[in-house]
Amino acid sequence: MPDKKNFDRDSISNTLLVAIGLSLVCSVIVSSAAIVLKPVQEKNEEEFRQQIILDVAGLMQPGGNTEELFAAIEPRMVDLESGEYTEEVDAATFDALLAAGDPQLGIAIPSDKDIAGIGRRAKYAAVYIVRDGAKIDQVILPVYGKGLWSTMLGYLSLAPDGNTIKGLRFYAHAETPGLGDQIDKEPWRAQWAGKLVYDGGDEPQIRVIKGVVPAAAPDARYMIDGLSGATLTANGVTGLVQYWTGPHGFGPYLKKFRQTETS
Ligand SMILES: Cc1cc2nc3c(=O)[nH]c(=O)nc-3n(C[C@H](O)[C@H](O)[C@H](O)COP(=O)(O)O)c2cc1C
Repeated sequence: MPDKKNFDRDSISNTLLVAIGLSLVCSVIVSSAAIVLKPVQEKNEEEFRQQIILDVAGLMQPGGNTEELFAAIEPRMVDLESGEYTEEVDAATFDALLAAGDPQLGIAIPSDKDIAGIGRRAKYAAVYIVRDGAKIDQVILPVYGKGLWSTMLGYLSLAPDGNTIKGLRFYAHAETPGLGDQIDKEPWRAQWAGKLVYDGGDEPQIRVIKGVVPAAAPDARYMIDGLSGATLTANGVTGLVQYWTGPHGFGPYLKKFRQTETS
């Protein structure tokens, strides 16, 4: 038993002991919570990503079961260089961001082609095919690139002509609320539907301009209104959409897709 008379609760050693003990207990609680909650967090993130794919496809139903609705969508893996479908990797487990950094699965993007500002990309990418009966109704492509503050990740949906945009939705970014986050807001988002990516060549023409698209402009179908006070985020959106629909992104795939679906 410690001698009560000599036991000084406020001594430096006792204060340090209590502080260290408390820190240890708290760090164990926080670490355990992080470990236990990680799978739940990952499941929620995956569900949100699927909801955005359903949303851009126009298939999201209020109160609908995401897993059941998502089962109608056919994920396929594409070899970006050849533009061919591939079974080399599994679309259900493939993580494009992780693969980008992998020496076997990723490649460096030459700086003159890196208009999305991402440095590297995976050799393979998932595409999500939506059918209407036997016919393809749309193909949804994952797209991502740098905005002002963050990497913006989203999905671009294209009609079977591989050219007409059906929609663009983002599921992750950290652009400023009220400025860069206008990319998530209507009516800006709605403008993408019906716009065209290509004007007959292989280089994407679609772009976010500064200001409002003049209705009478001959190339208005390739232009989206600017984001007021957020031109840098807007330029990021142009860069990422043009990169992923361009010759170093899904260009080779979309070229084959256009030829197959319109022949
Ligand atoms: C606190 C703060 C947050 C900002 N956030 C963004 C942003 O998310 N996206 C963006 O493009 N510009 C943002 N800007 C503004 C940029 O610095 C830059 O002025 C703007 O992109 C220019 O767009 P404008 O030509 O449409 O005015 C922010 C500025 C400040 C001071």
